[in-house]
Amino acid sequence: MPTALITGASEGIGKALAACAAKDGYDLILTARSEDKLKAVAADLSARFDVTADVVLADLADPTAAAILWAKATDGRQIDVLVNNAGLGINGPFAETDWTREQATINVNILALTDLMKRAIIHMQENGRGRILNVASTAAFLPGPKMAVYHASKAYVLSLSEAVAEELKGSRVQVTALCPGVTATEFFDGADMKSTRLTNMGAMIATPESVAQAGWRAMKAAQRIEVPGALNKLFAFLPRLLPRSVITMTTKQFYARKH
Ligand SMILES: NC(=O)c1ccc[n+]([C@@H]2O[C@H](COP(=O)([O-])OP(=O)(O)OC[C@H]3O[C@@H](n4cnc5c(N)ncnc54)[C@H](OP(=O)(O)O)[C@@H]3O)[C@@H](O)[C@H]2O)c1
Repeated sequence: MPTALITGASEGIGKALAACAAKDGYDLILTARSEDKLKAVAADLSARFDVTADVVLADLADPTAAAILWAKATDGRQIDVLVNNAGLGINGPFAETDWTREQATINVNILALTDLMKRAIIHMQENGRGRILNVASTAAFLPGPKMAVYHASKAYVLSLSEAVAEELKGSRVQVTALCPGVTATEFFDGADMKSTRLTNMGAMIATPESVAQAGWRAMKAAQRIEVPGALNKLFAFLPRLLPRSVITMTTKQFYARKH
């Protein structure tokens, strides 16, 4: 059986991506910090699909965690798919936001993702094949006043993914960047965004399942970038047409508080 290592699999988009992998017959290695939630996801998916699901706890804000996680995940096993999904952010003016949370954002969204991706590519090249799905965001396409570090981190993920995908062109190891727009998950609680305009856009908010399915499909098709949803595709395209100052000013409005 092929094996998929999925970070941030305890809830939201990561949990939905784990379901896509299980449905396709992948044995699972699920990782995050929340043991109970991970065990519940593992029990559910291994019962519903004929796969094994192992749980490895890791706090990816710790700069040493990715190496330890990778060693545990590959202990006697081949990894066929790496899903770099774990991520977080924080809303607020840069000068006022909590540095500990922002440092964790950089460590999880950038450092751990890059570390796991490098280890996975070397491992997959040795095995002759593999797929990596990096979860970026539509935030990757534009600067984000009041969410500056998060947008910058996702711009990094998109840039890294595209560049390495070009390096790997023609090989049997492929990289895909998934760039979701607003998705109904717990992300906004943690990021202190519940009362912003962005998270109160009703019908524009996607389900984690639809986002995960689009990303999983794109990864299987070795597509470089997937932006799920027509409006999100438009948001991703607009920065190419409009002056950067206009785009940056408009983004700030989305992060304004509604009340
Ligand atoms: N929701 C959106 O609108 C949206 C839009 C675009 C992109 N995204 C991206 O999609 C990805 C998944 O987000 P989501 O919306 O599904 O959010 P979520 O429901 O909050 O899930 C985040 C996942 O990341 C894990 N995580 C957070 N901090 C971690 C840490 N220090 N170490 C290890 N794991 C950690 C969480 O698990 P534990 O708490 O158990 O550790 C959880 O499984 C993120 O990369 C996010 O940036 C989300």
